[in-house]
Amino acid sequence: MKKKIFSGVQPTGNLHLGNYLGAIKNFVNFQNQENTECIYCVVDLHAITTKQDPQELKSNVRDTVAAFIASGLNQKKSIIFNQSAVSAHSECAWVLGCSSRMGWLNRMTQFKEKAGKDKEKASIGLYVYPILMAADILLYNSTHVPVGEDQKQHLELTRDIAQKFNIDFEAKNFFILPEPIIQKDFSRIMSLKDGTKKMSKSDPSDLSRINLTDSNDEISIKIKKAKTDSHPLPDEKNGLAKRPEAKNLIGIFSSLNNQDVDKTLNEFSGKNFSDLKIKLTELIIEKISPISSEIKKLKMDENLIDEILNKGALKADEIASKKIKELKKIVGF
Ligand code: AMP
Ligand code: TRP
Repeated sequence: MKKKIFSGVQPTGNLHLGNYLGAIKNFVNFQNQENTECIYCVVDLHAITTKQDPQELKSNVRDTVAAFIASGLNQKKSIIFNQSAVSAHSECAWVLGCSSRMGWLNRMTQFKEKAGKDKEKASIGLYVYPILMAADILLYNSTHVPVGEDQKQHLELTRDIAQKFNIDFEAKNFFILPEPIIQKDFSRIMSLKDGTKKMSKSDPSDLSRINLTDSNDEISIKIKKAKTDSHPLPDEKNGLAKRPEAKNLIGIFSSLNNQDVDKTLNEFSGKNFSDLKIKLTELIIEKISPISSEIKKLKMDENLIDEILNKGALKADEIASKKIKELKKIVGF
């Protein structure tokens, strides 16, 4: 059976090494597998669940696409589009909202985290965000959804919503129940300043992350300043257990070099962080600087990016509007 991959990335500013190693690098791997159809969506409807500057939003959508292409996604192999360009997403979300239960949404930890203490002031959009995500996935009969660990709960909800709809409308297998694909290793790249916190766009310190657009000098400074501990590097995985910063730097090295952690530890066991940092800096520069210069080039050509998005939206719309037609029939519209 053909694998149908769908994933979404929010257009909220510069992408970083965590996005690359945790998500985009895999998107590229799936794109190059046989018998696999890939759809990658820049989720601008999700972005406006928190306040966005309209001009910035537009430019962030383009930047995300530039990062996709620079990392190796190819519009001839994958459908690349932005969510708001295909109206089926909003339509489907409404219908799915009517099959979803408040109790299910009340359990979502991402909402609790993002809404903070004052839930009453959070937007309704932020609350129903996971229903829109379910619509994204279910519209395309997606079988597999590569996401970070943090999205696992939303995937489970997607399956619950799909199942309830199928049962309520006696439409067996109308919505396909998708499987999450969550990487075992490297699914969480951590902050360079604190190995217990995720590397994130929203961290106020730019030293906490490597952006895909960082210059070689910036990369070098950030790795030099990255937090470490005072012990030499261990010779086996267990020795990383209570050493989050060591674990993170070794993990980044392994992931970028496409090798397992044991192999990296073989290379560095007994050495100091300074040795690891020198090699890691070289490796990051080797892997990231071609992406970074490609992003800069692509960003200068807005028309090219817009054309990729327009073509992608046409292809996505063709699939999604068929599904919406069937959905409307089932519901009785
Ligand atoms: P976001 O930017 O939060 O929409 O995330 C886009 C994708 O990158 C999602 O699949 C996330 O799970 C993944 N991601 C974001 N930050 C990290 C991180 N620090 N480590 C690994 N994956 C991440
Ligand atoms: N919620 C996801 C995130 O924050 C982004 C997303 C939106 C998504 N729709 C999706 C991911 C569909 C996978 C499938 O990272």
